[in-house]
Amino acid sequence: MEKIQVINQNVLGTVNEEAIKAFYPAAADAIEKLDKGTGAGNDFLGWVKLPTETPEALLDEINDAARAFDGCEYVVAIGIGGSYLGAKAVISALSDSFAEFKPAKGPRVLFAGQNIGEDYTYELVELLKGKKFGIIVISKSGTTTEPAIAFRILKELLETQAGKAEAAKLIVAITDEKKGALRKLATEEGYKTFVIADNVGGRFSVLTPVGLLPIAVAGYDIKALVAGAREMQASTAEAGEENIAVKYAATRNALYQAGKKIEILVNYNPKLHYFAEWWKQLYGESEGKDLKGIFPASVDFTTDLHSMGQWIQDGERTIFETVITVGEQAHKMEIPADADNLDGLNYIAGKRIDEVNKMAELGTRIAHVDGGVPNMIITLPRLDEKCLGGLIYFFEIACGISGYILGVNPFNQPGVEDYKRNMFALLNKPGYEEESKAIQAKLK
Ligand code: PA5
Repeated sequence: MEKIQVINQNVLGTVNEEAIKAFYPAAADAIEKLDKGTGAGNDFLGWVKLPTETPEALLDEINDAARAFDGCEYVVAIGIGGSYLGAKAVISALSDSFAEFKPAKGPRVLFAGQNIGEDYTYELVELLKGKKFGIIVISKSGTTTEPAIAFRILKELLETQAGKAEAAKLIVAITDEKKGALRKLATEEGYKTFVIADNVGGRFSVLTPVGLLPIAVAGYDIKALVAGAREMQASTAEAGEENIAVKYAATRNALYQAGKKIEILVNYNPKLHYFAEWWKQLYGESEGKDLKGIFPASVDFTTDLHSMGQWIQDGERTIFETVITVGEQAHKMEIPADADNLDGLNYIAGKRIDEVNKMAELGTRIAHVDGGVPNMIITLPRLDEKCLGGLIYFFEIACGISGYILGVNPFNQPGVEDYKRNMFALLNKPGYEEESKAIQAKLK
């Protein structure tokens, strides 16, 4: 397995080749709209050519900014949604599973502002007390409540511990070029900043400084990540049968049309847990609108075969799976033989753990197809920066194509505003007086 591929033969009992290919003209139309900027949401297409248009000088500047945190024990990346999930996904996929319990080579990247958990915030502050730490505060709008609360608290702690002038050198802000409270604050405090371009939406921003700076701080090769994305950009630019993004987008739309309303992204490698979280945001926020859209869900197998496996095998038949299968493992480990064989495991002695995992995967795929759950397979050669960069761009471009096939604007997120309006009304935010009255009336 040397490249990322999409294999869809396990869906053919549910939808046939013709039903999938029927979406190819719409996919070609979508690619043209993405390329020429003639579709809905065309002011948010900066990500389409981002890999090839990212100058090496910017990657060098990001690496330099990352090295400026050397000497910090922790760097806290503050952000939510698209300003959080991409970095978290890549760092989790590349990190040692027990990194937090082993000596660190550089700063450890922690995350904040991705929730409003009081205990989470308190415990983070307790961890950082007396430690040298830095902050990357990320918000495209510069006004999002969750990261703003976390930043206010951690900024105060950093200034108390390091002094205001030194703290300013340990804070990097990534935000809009001109607008928003964070831009104003960063300018007044003299922080190093990176810009999130107007035409790149949050969930498509992992390959901008939003994702790249925390990934670089964690010690990973952002040039290889972008190189992988560039290769995928080149290989998915043209419509046609060989375009794997077209194949994925067309197949999932055919399945949706056939009544499969839920897509479960499956992995057999626990390091991909947060990659699935990133993917869920990408597809959920892009397609779930106008009362349409495949519901994106995820499971970590084999772990979740012992929880969700029953539902998937025998529950309502409205689901399909997309399985990310990773070719090579970074490490080799065999199951040892045991003279007594009291556990009865000698039949797999001498096999690599990954061989057993792959048989679990194959067996599960067959069982699920037999049970009426079609699946697609996405092959990933290995978990490294280049492959992940390719996978990120693959899912992004396929999302744009798929959203246009579905007939929605994949680049807005009007539904996200509704909870904010209610929360601001309940908190009596200035400017929300009418909404406050209305929501209080509802609560009576
Ligand atoms: O995809 C999106 O646009 C959202 O998920 C945002 O990334 C998220 O709401 C955070 O917004 P901001 O970066 O403006 O703080």
